[in-house]
Amino acid sequence: MEFNNITVEISKPIAVITVNRPKVLNALNLETVGELGAAFSMLEADENVRAIIMTGAGEKAFVAGADINEFRGKKAPEMIPFARKGHDVTRIMESMGKPIIAAINGYALGGGCEMAMACDVRFASENARLGQPEILLGLIPGMGGTQRLPRLVGLGIAHELLYSGEHITAQRAYEIGLVNRVFPPDQLLDEAKKFAIKLAGMPSHALKMLKTATNNGYDQTLDNGLILETQCFAQCWSHPDLEEGTGAFVEKRKASFHAD
Ligand code: COA
Repeated sequence: MEFNNITVEISKPIAVITVNRPKVLNALNLETVGELGAAFSMLEADENVRAIIMTGAGEKAFVAGADINEFRGKKAPEMIPFARKGHDVTRIMESMGKPIIAAINGYALGGGCEMAMACDVRFASENARLGQPEILLGLIPGMGGTQRLPRLVGLGIAHELLYSGEHITAQRAYEIGLVNRVFPPDQLLDEAKKFAIKLAGMPSHALKMLKTATNNGYDQTLDNGLILETQCFAQCWSHPDLEEGTGAFVEKRKASFHAD
């Protein structure tokens, strides 16, 4: 598949998607958002890939938001498809079976923070800066920021960040639970790869069941979430990985999980 704005590097068992528009700090135009959706769908179908990293080209930015030059001057009816495209892509990311790690190597602002929040795990470099600065443009987030930020950090802190538009440091993002781990810039990608390889070695069916139970159960009532958990739990019994994992435990050997 050919892309103009991103690169996709597959190195079995992981893949790295890099947003590659460094001249505009990897800002997302409509074409880039579409390419990201196509890349995630392609990697979901690729049996060589079991975990995915998303990052940004260059040393300065993960993604500095939507491309302001592209959307400036447009009217709402032209921009609603952009927001919907963003929602579609982030839903692809959340509903696919494979884990996605954001390696936040600099600014993750606006749509960049929103894309990172749709990843399963977020690692950041010490120089990363995160935020939802849309308010400073007379705008609000349109790719899920008003919904995912409160879910990740709580409504009070989400209000503080959304209302002020402030950029926060990687350390503060770590303290509020917006990023999982922080590394020196030169170690970020290696650490993300190490973790991706670790997840790629997990039984993929059980991992998919975990992602389904957590992502789909999160917004439901506890009772409905528990029903979903039971369905996913039961599905583990219809997969050979459970026999292999428990067999390896009792035989005191390393498990060799199914390749799917
Ligand atoms: N859309 C389009 N272009 C962008 C951009 C965006 N979201 N963010 C940065 N750029 C471009 C700049 O216009 C600049 O282009 P130029 O060299 O042709 O002038 C280039 O990227 C470098 O950015 P610059 O602003 O010069 O770097 P900086 O280090 O001074 O500041 C930021 C970095 C991220 C703080 C600043 O670029 C910024 O605030 N960007 C917008 C963030 C934003 O509001 N995102 C949400 C959009 S909805």
